[in-house]
Amino acid sequence: MIAKIIDGLSVAAGIQEQVKVQVESLARKGVKPCLCTILVGENPSSITYINKKQKAAHDVGISTKDLRFNETLSQEELLQVISGLNSDSNVHGVLVQLPLPKHIDQNVIINKLYPLKDVDGLTPFNSGMLMKGKPAITPCTPTGILELLDFYKINVVGMDVLIINRSSLVGKPLACLLLERGSTVTVCHSKSKKLEEKLNRSEMIISAVGNREHFTLSGDMVKPGAVIIDVGISRFKGKICGDVDFDSVRTKASWITPVPGGVGPMTVAILLRNTVSAAFSAVGIGNMSIYDQHSG
Ligand code: GUN
Repeated sequence: MIAKIIDGLSVAAGIQEQVKVQVESLARKGVKPCLCTILVGENPSSITYINKKQKAAHDVGISTKDLRFNETLSQEELLQVISGLNSDSNVHGVLVQLPLPKHIDQNVIINKLYPLKDVDGLTPFNSGMLMKGKPAITPCTPTGILELLDFYKINVVGMDVLIINRSSLVGKPLACLLLERGSTVTVCHSKSKKLEEKLNRSEMIISAVGNREHFTLSGDMVKPGAVIIDVGISRFKGKICGDVDFDSVRTKASWITPVPGGVGPMTVAILLRNTVSAAFSAVGIGNMSIYDQHSG
């Protein structure tokens, strides 16, 4: 068997075209959607991600603020920045690039963010709604993965899915989204036992380890016909690669995402879509009136 390729670049391009149309529709209402990204410190991967997000926003006509701070920024100073953005009606979406430096408590910062501007879907309101099965703004990478599966008509109902990642950005929201769709989900992480056994019986594997030296998913670990979604990105032997040993897994799987060109572009496309939805909410259009119902 040779797996079919899940082409994230082309699906993401389609979503960006839809976003452009929505940006034009907002322009007719006198609204220019604006995304503010916040980067603290100089983590090279974070700089690359932020540059990509900024460029993609410009390409679809979303205006941006690009706030970059020195590693020494205090938690209090960052909270003040968030407060300012919460009350700035020209800013519709705010993304705080993670990880933050160790002296800043990520949860304190995210909790400060106004949920209607939380285009990453990480605030307690947005993650709570997702947990209740009433998604409002959902995290970009998990949402992008679901979009890819839908695009290729990969039916996840009743499927045994193994996720290797338990973070709030990927593993936990992805598990919620897949459970809502009727998958049987197992979430593994660095302390999980008998990972190989679990991998071998899974019909879909979503791997988001991001450390190729530490973990590589190879063909012998995969059940024949499994769907393989590679979310990991790391530099290995001088090359950017995912968690998956593409050549060996491709001969066993039914579908596979490449790295680059798989999940990564979808994360960015969904961020743009979430930003436009946030701008629609700001003018009273969309499903986020749900927030007012719940915020008292
Ligand atoms: N760091 C790695 N991926 C992401 C993401 O999707 N959002 C944020 N905020 N930080 C990240």
